[in-house]
Amino acid sequence: MRRKLIAGNWKMNKTLPEAVELAGELKKQVGNVNNVDVVLCPPFPMLFSVGEIIKDSNIKLGAQNLFWEEQGAFTGEVAAPMLTSVGCQFVIVGHSERRKYFGETNQTVNRRIKAALKFGLTPILCVGETLEQREAGSMETVVTTQVKEGLADFSADEVAKMVIAYEPVWAIGTGRNATPEQAVEVHSLIRELLKSQYGADLANKFRIQYGGSVTPQNANELLQEEEIDGALVGGASLKADSFVAIIKAGELLSHA
Ligand code: PGA
Repeated sequence: MRRKLIAGNWKMNKTLPEAVELAGELKKQVGNVNNVDVVLCPPFPMLFSVGEIIKDSNIKLGAQNLFWEEQGAFTGEVAAPMLTSVGCQFVIVGHSERRKYFGETNQTVNRRIKAALKFGLTPILCVGETLEQREAGSMETVVTTQVKEGLADFSADEVAKMVIAYEPVWAIGTGRNATPEQAVEVHSLIRELLKSQYGADLANKFRIQYGGSVTPQNANELLQEEEIDGALVGGASLKADSFVAIIKAGELLSHA
């Protein structure tokens, strides 16, 4: 049984006082979680302070993006060693909002993952099709290409250190989550692909999260699927109550 991973992607939300308040509340309520991995991904300026708050707890810290170079004249960018120096263990890579608004491609995603791994960060590679792609019948091709190209040239040992989040673009921030059946279909597709490329052992241990309008209302039915190894949560991670409820669902179902 794979341990579920619940990550909160705060996106471009929360000022420092708000971030501190939320992190403090989460630490109080779920700082001792045991049967599930919990990661908070606040915006860059809040990483250090949130990290300080959660450092004596079981909650882990993640960033929302990174650049592939280690240092230098890249105004506005943030490098992997900077993230690890403030306590990050995870980093989201290739989120669909980065692909849509900031020109992220499978090739740049690949370079970012490489930098993350070099510094011991666990990349959460986001993949997922748009509504048009789904309706045109190309979901399978899109997701397969994103996984293949995102993971190009990595060894099985490297891939084993990653997490993939299946996030259908049409489900993100829309209130319209994928049904468990829809998510399981794509997760199975990804797992089969991993199996064919890196072997059954890796594929069986590999964690694939679902993301897109996960709420306390639908967390149970999604997370009870064995194929769904956790959730990448946007909107519902911005309030302690709703995020805690999702974490508790993950904790309970990790037991099952
Ligand atoms: P959402 O976002 O939960 O607000 O749909 C998920 C994500 O983009 O990671």
